[in-house]
Amino acid sequence: MSAHRKERRIVVGVGGASGSIYARQLLDILVATTHDIAVIFSAHARRIWQDELGSDPAAVDCPQYDVHNFDVPFASGSNACDACVIIPCSMGMLGRIAHGTAEDLIARTADVCLKERRQLIVVPRETPYSRVHLENMLRLTDAGAVVLPASPSFYGRPASIEAAVDTVVARIVDHLGIPYQPHTGRWGAS
Ligand SMILES: Cc1cc2nc3c(=O)[nH]c(=O)nc-3n(C[C@H](O)[C@H](O)[C@H](O)COP(=O)(O)O)c2cc1C
Repeated sequence: MSAHRKERRIVVGVGGASGSIYARQLLDILVATTHDIAVIFSAHARRIWQDELGSDPAAVDCPQYDVHNFDVPFASGSNACDACVIIPCSMGMLGRIAHGTAEDLIARTADVCLKERRQLIVVPRETPYSRVHLENMLRLTDAGAVVLPASPSFYGRPASIEAAVDTVVARIVDHLGIPYQPHTGRWGAS
């Protein structure tokens, strides 16, 4: 690791599924850490972010990479990122990753994580799931990814959409090994 590199390089891929708020809240947490954070939006993700959040995804405060640009360090296994989170992950993106198409920078970054045994977390958002979706999730799990659905919990009685979203985001942050205090606390903690 270079002397100038921050602790870990974490790439966030934002797919074209509903649930841009999950990506926004994860990015808000990650950019406040000392980790080296980068984000890639799919074309549909940009449009959905604008529609759902009413803000320009270009304003996200961390380095952004064009989804069609492969001239990026972490597109190669020789300079892989340490972790990649695909959030929200559309079923299209899930299928592309599960089948190794590596046809855009998000799918390629995920593919590199799988082959280099780096951490890959996919956060699928669709309902209901077809057999195809479920089989693709199983393929990814078998290949070493963590499938962490956008399924909020309610036992902490989240009082807002943001607090409900945080119940999912907190689990992702836990998997990344980053200290975090969830909005609704933790089960069994006083
Ligand atoms: C407004 C809107 C919402 C969508 N929501 C979902 C969704 O929740 N889950 C999903 O799998 N696809 C959803 N799609 C379809 C995907 O955007 C589409 O299949 C796309 O090709 C997925 O690829 P991407 O993740 O690379 O953008 C949505 C599309 C639009 C326009």
